Amino acid sequence: MTNRSLLILPGDGIGPEVMAEVRKIIDWFGTQGIAFDVSEDLVGGAAYDAHGTPLHDDTMAKAQEVDAVLLGAVGGPKYDVLDFSVKPERGLLRLRKEMDLYANLRPAQCFDALADFSSLKKDVVAGLDIMIVRELTSGVYFGEPRGIHKEGNERVGINTQRYTESEIARVARSAFELARKRGNKVCSMEKANVMESGILWRDVVQEVHDAEYPDVELSHMYADAGAMQLTRWPKQFDVIVTDNLFGDLLSDLAAMLTGSLGMLPSASLGAPMANGRPKALYEPVHGSAPDIAGQGKANPIACILSFAMALRYSFDLGDAADKVEKAVEAVLADGLRTADLLGEEGTTPVSTAEMGDAIVAKLAAS
Ligand code: NAD
Ligand code: IPM
Ligand code: MN
Repeated sequence: MTNRSLLILPGDGIGPEVMAEVRKIIDWFGTQGIAFDVSEDLVGGAAYDAHGTPLHDDTMAKAQEVDAVLLGAVGGPKYDVLDFSVKPERGLLRLRKEMDLYANLRPAQCFDALADFSSLKKDVVAGLDIMIVRELTSGVYFGEPRGIHKEGNERVGINTQRYTESEIARVARSAFELARKRGNKVCSMEKANVMESGILWRDVVQEVHDAEYPDVELSHMYADAGAMQLTRWPKQFDVIVTDNLFGDLLSDLAAMLTGSLGMLPSASLGAPMANGRPKALYEPVHGSAPDIAGQGKANPIACILSFAMALRYSFDLGDAADKVEKAVEAVLADGLRTADLLGEEGTTPVSTAEMGDAIVAKLAAS
């Protein structure tokens, strides 16, 4: 037993493929005297196939006990026919809700070697380093009432956007704390022009700022304008704080600034546990990519960088996290590209496993 416990939930589609590469990195750290107590379990469709539920209660209990959970991806067309309550995505949402992982950190960094590859012009994205803080346990994802019911002779679909002051205040604090360690700027995004929950969001973020973080530069933006500004000139932002649904959309958008959805990691953090470490789940921003699953084409970097975030935020191993990030940067600088990153003519893609091996080789040489 080590004092670093990690629960790995590979999930579905490309989840197990990218997680196999993270395992190589974990094993390499083991050879360097940084060992992890790793257990593995099922989530999503894989858990449904085995247990008839996308997250078994035993797995939920394990997730509550470990220092960090690392998740691959869930979902896939095979499960489209399932009842909503047992769809693979419900397993992930249960983990987020029951672990109370309210702050979802989604950094979007453009590696120099990929600046040419973004769909935007090079000078728009080169050197980009922004952090989206997405509220993850409330809002329209969880608000009541919800459901589909009959009104007269037609069906009505209902979801409710609901935020309490304390839910807004705690994620705002996470954003301000992060900003102080970065560029000291926060932009809060909502739609206060059309939503009461947006008005409350704006007020509470401003109040928390004025009372506790007056030294941090704060601005507010409507989320639709924010999407436009993110594509126009993303480098104007440092930390963006926003709700669950806007954060979902804006982080996929930000992914493409960096070149590929296959590059973006995330950390979902909750309140500190008894050992002082935050409850935490780390996962790539991308999904199970059914279109490329089983073909060895997936880019493992988002999942590998998610593990780097675990090193930093759950295990106080900032130097080890830097090492992983530098190794990723180095393989990209060498021109290694999985298929999602191929723009340049005449370049042959490397497989998921080749990318993982190359990153381990860089680590070993560092
Ligand atoms: P997706 O992220 O799975 O795929 C979108 C596109 O990006 C696809 O063309 C895919 O091939 C590509 N892509 C994604 N990750 C990649 C990687 N690592 N390397 C190379 N290419 C990559 O999104 P989707 O197709 O909308 O959703 C598929 C399934 O995944 C759905 O069931 C969805 O609910 C689920 N999903 C799960 C998560 C999660 O587990 N956190 C996140 C998003 C979507
Ligand atoms: C994400 C995904 C999830 C979300 C789904 C799979 C539940 O899109 O993590 O970005 O909508 O939060
Ligand atoms: Mn998403």
